[in-house]
Formats: sequence, structure tokens, C-alpha cells
Amino acid sequence: MNHNQTIKSLFLVATVAFLTGCAAKDDYTGVEYAPQMYHSTPYEPLSQITDKSQGEWLDSNPEDEHGEFYNSNPYNRKGMTMREPVAGTVKRAKYAPYRIPKDSLEMAAKVVNPLKASDEVLAKGKALYDRYCEHCHGGKGKGDGLVGKVFKGVPSYTSDAIKNKPEGHIFHVITHGKGRMGSHASQVSVEDRWKIVKYVQTLQKQ
Ligand code: HEC
Repeated sequence: MNHNQTIKSLFLVATVAFLTGCAAKDDYTGVEYAPQMYHSTPYEPLSQITDKSQGEWLDSNPEDEHGEFYNSNPYNRKGMTMREPVAGTVKRAKYAPYRIPKDSLEMAAKVVNPLKASDEVLAKGKALYDRYCEHCHGGKGKGDGLVGKVFKGVPSYTSDAIKNKPEGHIFHVITHGKGRMGSHASQVSVEDRWKIVKYVQTLQKQ
């Protein structure tokens, strides 16, 4: 091998080494410039792994099975992102979770709407009704929404069966669904459901 060939083969080796050095593999994206710009440290709110022997976040060694665990927040005492609540603290929710089971409509009918009808509540109730109910029940609650026309079986709120149904009953139907109507609990919050109920009451009493 003459001098020229040696330089050429060294160059080849260097090139191959350079290219394979960048190779991505499984979860490893290859060499990154300024990795902290892409991967922020996911500090957990309360639990922190403070044992550095578990490997540090972004230790960027894909072979390290323990890796990527140490994520203690260095900016807070105790290494946590959130502070622990004061001892004896009791969590207060605005609305207690609604636990009346689906088949207990009669019990549900006795539940009182925690909201008072006001212009604001009714306006929000109407906006939510237009979003979640109108396509089946129609603007005036006659069961003639665009979907209601093809869905079939959507009753009118002013029918004898429904016009006197109390607020708790309507809340329960929105929450659990009834017959061919599905539950809306996952889309509409408890407070918003009670607002819709207030608005539906005005449609029942047209
Ligand atoms: C996919 C169409 C559809 C949507 C959306 C829908 N409903 Fe219904 N709703 C129905 C059908 C169908 C029935 C009749 C259920 C049955 O008894 O079989 C019904 C029944 C009702 C009843 C009467 C319950 C009873 O006692 O018989 C009320 C009140 C009601 N819906 C309110 C609402 C409200 C409020 C919304 C919006 C949050 C809503 N619905 C969204 C289809 C729908």
C-alpha cells in the first residue's frame, strides 16, 4: 500500500465511523446538537427519584437499562416540583362526584340543581345545548335536529312524558344516557351539565 492508498483508506474508515456514529437505533435518535432543546426534563410533581445511581435523565446511553430515571428537581428543596400540602389539608371540590347509578332515575330526580337560573347561566346553557344536543333534539327541543331526523326516536321536550321531568332527571339522562341516547359525561363537566339542564327546562315549558 503506497502513501496515497493509506490516506484514502484512513479517510474511508473515518467516514464510516462518522456515519455509523450518527445512526439512530430504537428509541435512540442518534447524536443530537443541544439535546436539552428537544427533551425537557420531565419533573414529576411529587415523587422524585433522587438516586443518581439510577442514571440521569438524558444520560443518552441507549444501552443503559436503568437510564433516564434520575429526575430530581434541583431548584426545589427536597427535589420535588410541587410542595407537599400542609399536614391535615382536606381537598375541596366545587362539585362532589356524581355517584347515582344509571338505573336509579327516581333517586336522581330528587337531586336539586346547585345553580340558580340567571341570564348568564341560561346563555351558557344554550351555547352548550347548541353544541351537544341541538343536532338531535333541535333548536326548540322538538326532536327535529338534523341528526334527530334520521336518528329516530328523539322525543320532544314538550311531550306529556317529558315536559314535567325535574332537573335531576334531566341531569341524570345527560350523565348516563337513556335508551338510544348515549352518555355525555365524558364531554360535558358536571357544572356545564347543570347549566344545560336549566336551559332545557325553558324548552320544556314553552
Ligand atoms: C345522538 C342523538 C342525541 C343527542 C346528541 C342527545 N340526545 Fe337526548 N335523547 C336522544 C334520544 C334518542 C332520546 C330518547 C331516549 C329513549 O328513551 O330511548 C333522548 C332523550 C332525551 C331526554 C328525555 C329522557 C326521558 O326521560 O325520556 C332528555 C331530557 C334529553 N334527551 C336531553 C338531552 C340533552 C340535554 C342532550 C345534550 C347534552 C341530549 N339529550 C343529547 C338522542 C340524543
